[in-house]
Amino acid sequence: MTTDLAAELRSATRTAHEQAEAMPFVSALMAGRVPLDAYVDLLTQHHAVYAALEAAEPFVRADPAGATLLFDALARSAAIEHDLAVLRGPTWRATVRTLPATQRYVDRLRTVAGTWVGGYAAHAYTRYLGDLSGGVTIRGVLRREYGLGDDALHFYAFPGLGKPKPFKDLYRARLDALPWDDAERARVAAEAGVAFGLNADVFADLGAVHLP
Ligand code: HEM
Repeated sequence: MTTDLAAELRSATRTAHEQAEAMPFVSALMAGRVPLDAYVDLLTQHHAVYAALEAAEPFVRADPAGATLLFDALARSAAIEHDLAVLRGPTWRATVRTLPATQRYVDRLRTVAGTWVGGYAAHAYTRYLGDLSGGVTIRGVLRREYGLGDDALHFYAFPGLGKPKPFKDLYRARLDALPWDDAERARVAAEAGVAFGLNADVFADLGAVHLP
């Protein structure tokens, strides 16, 4: 049976998504129960991850199908750098400690997203559609529980992208239009499962550092 890639990605990662949302670090952050520094630590891990994901773009752009997944307005590295400078000051780079799970995530991105367009699609789907979905909820928590203002929340702002819902629909349509057969789509869905697992591992490492 042929399935659209976007639907396949969603169903392949549904359980992993529920598990990620229920992780102790995530629950604590969403309830405002960890210090702000724990969120800033998460943001520094995101920085390493997005730098690796976005480093794959020249490779992906060279492939006509892959190029349809690239949108300048999705780029997160500069937005994260801005937020980190606001939250930790101009010397934030000297304070960054890349956690072991983050290093594994970065290594996976280097191996997979920069050499296989399907791998890039799996990892880009996992991060960008997540940022455009749950990111809205997380931004609300950061405002309400931690008192952050727009200047520290560039990570969640996508100027030039329009409203999240129509953009997510467009992105899903681009995923569905990729000229990949059933076997390749299954490989991509499996890689999205790996991506969710790596995100969960980062939350576990953050929990070990920041939860009592
Ligand atoms: C506090 C934690 C989280 C919350 C509250 C949350 C919330 C949501 C919500 C409400 C949606 C549905 C949006 C829609 O149907 O349009 C969604 C979708 C999504 N989330 Fe999360 N999420 C969280 C964590 C994560 C994590 C850790 C990841 C992976 C890195 C992730 C990746 C995704 C993806 C890829 C989608 C798109 C699903 C699809 O339509 O195919 N989320 N999230």
